[in-house]
Amino acid sequence: MSRPAPRPSLATLSLEAQEAAARARRALGDRRATPSVAWIAELTGAHRREIGTVLAELEGLLPLEEEIRHRHLAGGRERYAQICAPFELYALARLTRAERIVEVGVSSGVSSAHFLAALARNRKGRLHSIDLPVVQRGTALGRGESSVAVPRGRASGWAVPERLGARWDLRIGPSQELLPQLVGELDRIDLFLHDDLHTPAHLAFELATVRPKLRAGAIVLADNTAWTGEAFPRFAGSLGARVVRRGRGDLVGLRVPATPPPL
Ligand SMILES: C[S@@+](CC[C@H](N)C(=O)[O-])C[C@H]1O[C@@H](n2cnc3c(N)ncnc32)[C@H](O)[C@@H]1O
Repeated sequence: MSRPAPRPSLATLSLEAQEAAARARRALGDRRATPSVAWIAELTGAHRREIGTVLAELEGLLPLEEEIRHRHLAGGRERYAQICAPFELYALARLTRAERIVEVGVSSGVSSAHFLAALARNRKGRLHSIDLPVVQRGTALGRGESSVAVPRGRASGWAVPERLGARWDLRIGPSQELLPQLVGELDRIDLFLHDDLHTPAHLAFELATVRPKLRAGAIVLADNTAWTGEAFPRFAGSLGARVVRRGRGDLVGLRVPATPPPL
């Protein structure tokens, strides 16, 4: 009897990919950022060899990771409520060759920077981001203030190096107004990330808004779903898609099936 293939994990990839991922995580300074290879594999259907090739590219991203970290430190943030999976975002956009990426929730721009780095490497595509920033009240983050607050004198995306800006359409305002407008302008969406207001009603609103433009095979991600109840599983059910959880956390995703039920 043949043995089942091992579940893909970082340890099953090339040494080159493992070392690049470890170095990138240290350069960014976020211990949570070890990429989940199983999550990437389930969302994309990519073979572990392809995933290894893309994760090995993180070696070339070390200057970017260091720059983000230095910008955070200069802005008074060791880190903040940033996405815990920046390297998976890079890998998902690389492996699917996503050309139209939409994200809501930018803050300093950790997720944005990794999508933009993938688009730059793909040499095509555009990232459309929406953010309604909270601005830090004083010169330092006050007690009770959210770590996502933008330091004084800075703007949404303040940790994203300017050189990545060519493929970035960053819109400032509430997603309740700007997302329907943006979706109306796009012919399709290949990858969507929800990372802003984590309430069940707001997540359900964003998912319903993007749904008409999601192409077959598109990837939809939502962070902090511990706070959004049944909104994501219900949306997945309506598409006939499976919810894919990253490890034991509450960052989840799905891949739109080839023939989703009609709207
Ligand atoms: C958790 S942070 C985003 C982190 C970012 N994705 C990253 O990985 O670095 C959430 C951001 O969403 C913004 N936000 C909250 N409610 C919003 C809304 N209704 N529309 C647009 N942005 C909103 C917050 O001000 C904050 O900048």
